[in-house]
Amino acid sequence: VNEKTGKPCDNPVDLVMKTGTIISLANNTILIARDGTRISIADSGAPIRDTASSIKGVVLVFRDVTEKQRTEQELLKTQKLESVGILAGGIAHDFNNILAAILGNIDLAIHRLGENERVVPLLVDAEKASLRAKGLTQQLLTFAKGGSPVRRTVSIEGIIRDSALFILRGSGISCETDFQEDLWLVDIDPGQMSQVIQNIILNAREAMPGGGNVRISCRNSSEPASEKAAGGDSVEITITDNGPGLDPAVIEKLFDPYFTTKNKGTGLGLSICHSIITKHGGTLTASSPPGSGAVFTILLPASRSHEIVPEREEALPDSAGPGARILVMDDEEIVSKVAREMLQQLGHEVVLVKEGQEAIDCYRKAMEEGKRFDLVIMDLTIPGGMGGKEAVGHIRALDRNALVLVASGYSNDPVMASYQDYGFCGAIVKPFMLRELAVSVQVALNLQKQ
Ligand SMILES: Nc1ncnc2c1ncn2[C@@H]1O[C@H](COP(=O)(O)OP(=O)(O)OP(=O)(O)O)[C@@H](O)[C@H]1O
Ligand SMILES: [Mg+2]
Repeated sequence: VNEKTGKPCDNPVDLVMKTGTIISLANNTILIARDGTRISIADSGAPIRDTASSIKGVVLVFRDVTEKQRTEQELLKTQKLESVGILAGGIAHDFNNILAAILGNIDLAIHRLGENERVVPLLVDAEKASLRAKGLTQQLLTFAKGGSPVRRTVSIEGIIRDSALFILRGSGISCETDFQEDLWLVDIDPGQMSQVIQNIILNAREAMPGGGNVRISCRNSSEPASEKAAGGDSVEITITDNGPGLDPAVIEKLFDPYFTTKNKGTGLGLSICHSIITKHGGTLTASSPPGSGAVFTILLPASRSHEIVPEREEALPDSAGPGARILVMDDEEIVSKVAREMLQQLGHEVVLVKEGQEAIDCYRKAMEEGKRFDLVIMDLTIPGGMGGKEAVGHIRALDRNALVLVASGYSNDPVMASYQDYGFCGAIVKPFMLRELAVSVQVALNLQKQ
């Protein structure tokens, strides 16, 4: 039959008999076995002639092309995801800088106003909205180049509980959890992994506007986490809802970027999940067994380590200490200006530069004048100029004890994850709030005293 129309194909034998030539069947032909299995086939038919050249019979050849088609579709999917990644990354990068300015200025404005000012609640709302936008750009940047996860060894349980609670609050949907005891640890980027869980649970919530139930279970498995994984154990997370479930046609397109059945959906949710899980060396699959809603299954490689790596201590510095001299490098004026305002608010003295060479010159000159900078904050990449990644080496060559913080919107960039390897003393993700900046600067300045 024809896969698209479901109509039976013309009998190839009749066709060969009639035309007397070699024929091949149209694309999208499938063969249905007695047990109902459907196999995509490519085929040809050729006449068998006797010595008198009249047709005695027909040879039919069927080739199973199911696997070939599946690989082609997978490839297409990967290519689509890649192109979206490039596009999204570019837009998100610019957008992130704009947000840094908006968020920073709102944050500063709130700090400078007295608590009783009537405009404060308005600014707080504006800040909340900007923080949501920040979440979105972070999601998009995950797609972008260098989107490798910043991993820690953790238990997935806390992340799942927090994400589920956060999304299901006030939804009228109950949540049942079933976590195996002694669940193995996983090496994951906690931020990215909460994004995955949140996206999946948000979909479940959206699929059940009238309320329902979400079941989350987690267990150790001896199944490898992906085809690429060479054996090894994994942790299996299953998220099941009791909504309407997934049509086979939906399952086929589920992870495609921009595939959505919702009026206001972007269709990026699950494709981002897919990309994150794949980058973690795991697999994300969906199914819809009869009698149940949608089922999403995540397999993640189990960690070899048995020790949880704690989050970096983030206590707010109690005293800002004496003001420091800080050199800030960013090519976007709106970003550097708000950074300067924030640092001044914290009692520091600030000099702004636009790119790497200027930063090096400025640092050298200050050293010669005996007004050494206590700290340098540099953007990781500067289009058309020297970025922080390169400049940090030059500055450290001038002054072995120079303290340099790297700032970037690419929280997933490998440099951000292992900043020490590049000569930085810390990393801060843009856009940052006053508090985050205060902590990073103080932690860095404390290094100097040690
Ligand atoms: N739990 C679910 N139950 C039923 N359908 C689902 C479920 N999860 C996903 N889907 C279907 O998959 C589609 C794609 O989901 P995805 O999260 O990628 O995009 P979206 O939710 O439509 O948009 P966005 O996530 O950007 O808001 C949805 O539009 C919906 O049709
Ligand atoms: Mg969604």
